[in-house]
Amino acid sequence: MNKPSASAAPPSDLPQQTAALLEVSKLAKRVQGPEGELTLLEDIDFTLSAGESLAITGPSGSGKTTLLGLLAGLDTPTSGVIRLNGSAFSSLSEDQRAGHRATTCAFVFQEFHLVADMNVLENVMLPLELAGREKPATIAKDWLERVGLSHRVHHFPATLSGGEQQRVALARAFAVQPRLLFADEPTGSLDHANGKRVIDLLFELNQHSGAALVLVTHDPQLASRCQHHLELHEGKMIHQTFAQENPVKEPALEEVTPQNYSS
Ligand SMILES: Nc1ncnc2c1ncn2[C@@H]1O[C@H](COP(=O)(O)OP(=O)(O)O)[C@@H](O)[C@H]1O
Ligand SMILES: [Mg+2]
Repeated sequence: MNKPSASAAPPSDLPQQTAALLEVSKLAKRVQGPEGELTLLEDIDFTLSAGESLAITGPSGSGKTTLLGLLAGLDTPTSGVIRLNGSAFSSLSEDQRAGHRATTCAFVFQEFHLVADMNVLENVMLPLELAGREKPATIAKDWLERVGLSHRVHHFPATLSGGEQQRVALARAFAVQPRLLFADEPTGSLDHANGKRVIDLLFELNQHSGAALVLVTHDPQLASRCQHHLELHEGKMIHQTFAQENPVKEPALEEVTPQNYSS
């Protein structure tokens, strides 16, 4: 590629508003297996802006969880680049990526992953405390109210239904005001009615938070509720529907900024 001449270069103080929140380019992940090199992901390209949602679908073993792990910085790619707000996040050190995760990302898993010997309130407070946020109990109680679990704050996870546990996990995920929310088969362990309630809540909370949502699912109906859709097969993107010209929503974070909890 030709280098732009100095006179054609944009002024360096130009606002970076065009940078996508998440930009993935030529991403690949290969591992050494007993019978040689295995390609888990290859040629993955997409961008996602604040407030948008992306569904990742594909059969079991197609690389969905591997891709989520790379996007969240839990794992490093073999090649390719992941940019967050324009900077190459895949080249950060492990400590830097852990710091990024604590302040930027949140997760909702199929199996809830609540801490068994902490009560509901303590579970939601935990990431707030790890991120050094003030008034973690107030924030956690507020989010538990939003997911309809104010009456369960002192219960332990094992005494809750699957649907209730996943709603605790949603409260825990949104409480840290993530820029990126990753959900891996969030309804995979729930019956239809509870799954629907969790998903409605997930989209509703997401709309208000302005976070970008990356949702792994087997469910085509659920995928269709996301603006963008990426389908994987044996680690490759076989089908993609990226909505064009989506207006980038301004995050509606004023609703949940820490100042709201100071009085
Ligand atoms: N660290 C690893 N080493 C070897 N194979 C792996 C590793 N991680 C995942 N795989 C394999 O890569 C494929 C994709 O896995 P995964 O991302 O979990 O798929 P999905 O979430 O779509 O079911 C699977 O065949 C899995 O067994
Ligand atoms: Mg998976």
